[in-house]
Amino acid sequence: MKGIILAGGSGTRLYPLTKVTSKQLLPVYNKPMIYYPLHTLLKAGIKDILIIVAPERSGDFLNLLGSGKEFGARFAYEVQDQPRGIAEAFVIGKEFIEGDPCTLILGDNIYTDDFSEVIANHQEGAKIFVKEVPDANRFGVVEMDESGKVLGIEEKPKVPKSRFAQTGLYIYDSKVADYAEKLTPSARLEYEITDLNNMYLKGGQLSAHKVRGEWIDAGTFESLHRASLVVREHELGIHKNNESSLKVTIREDQKNLKEDFTRSLL
Ligand code: DAU
Repeated sequence: MKGIILAGGSGTRLYPLTKVTSKQLLPVYNKPMIYYPLHTLLKAGIKDILIIVAPERSGDFLNLLGSGKEFGARFAYEVQDQPRGIAEAFVIGKEFIEGDPCTLILGDNIYTDDFSEVIANHQEGAKIFVKEVPDANRFGVVEMDESGKVLGIEEKPKVPKSRFAQTGLYIYDSKVADYAEKLTPSARLEYEITDLNNMYLKGGQLSAHKVRGEWIDAGTFESLHRASLVVREHELGIHKNNESSLKVTIREDQKNLKEDFTRSLL
C-alpha cells in the first residue's frame, strides 16, 4: 500500500497566517499540522509516502520532513503547480503509485482513530471515511442506506441529503490513477474527489467506514484552534476518548519532538 499526502493549495481561508508559509506547516499545538496525517499513514504501516506540495513551499516541506528516514519511511515529493483539485493527486502520483493500492490523506485533516486494520484489510475498490457533522453542506455529503451502503455523494450541496461528510481520507485499489485520468473538471474547474468516488460507486466498488473518534478539517481559524485544543487534551491525557492514536507523551523538553514523535510510532 502506497500513501499520498496532499499538502498543496493556497490556504486563503487562513490568510494572513498563510502569507509566508503553507497551511499544512502551521502549528497544531506542538507539531506542524502535516505530522498528524503523516502519523495516520505511518501508524497504518505505510512506508512509501508521496507528499504533494505547492511549488513556492516545496523547500520548506523538504527541510521539515527530509527523506523519511527519521520517520522509518521513504518520502517522495511532487509539486502541484495549481490547486486543480484533490483527484489530480493520482495523475501527479501515477508513476509513484505504479499500480499499487493507495491511501490518500489531505494534509489538513486530523483524526484520532487508528485506521490500521481498515487500511490493511482493504482489497478491491475504494473506501471513504465518513463522519456525522452538523454542517454537512460544507463538505462532500454521503447518502447511505440503513446498512451503511453508499447511495451517492454530492459535493457541497445546498440541501444535503444526509448529515454524513466525506472526510479527507480515501483508500483506492490499483486502478485509481486510470480512473483519475478520465475525470473532467467540474463547474469550479477542479478534478473532484467526489467525481472519482462516484465512478467507483457506479461500478459497485465504493464502501464507507464511519469515523468513530474526532475528525478535524483544520482549514479555518475556528477548526485550526479546535485542532490545537483536541491535540492538547490528548497529549495531556485529559481527552474523553483517551485510547486514541493521537496520544503522544508530553515532555518538558520539547526540543526533540520530532524524535519523540518517531519513537512513539515504533
Ligand atoms: O475535508 C474534506 C473535504 O475535502 C471533502 O468533504 C470534500 O468532498 C472535498 O472536496 C474537500 O473539500 P474542501 O473544500 O475542504 O477542499 P479544499 O479545497 O479545502 O482542499 C482540501 C485540502 O487539499 C487543502 O488542505 C488543500 C489541499 N488541496 C486542495 C486542492 C483542491 C491541494 O493540495 N490541491 C488542490 O488542488
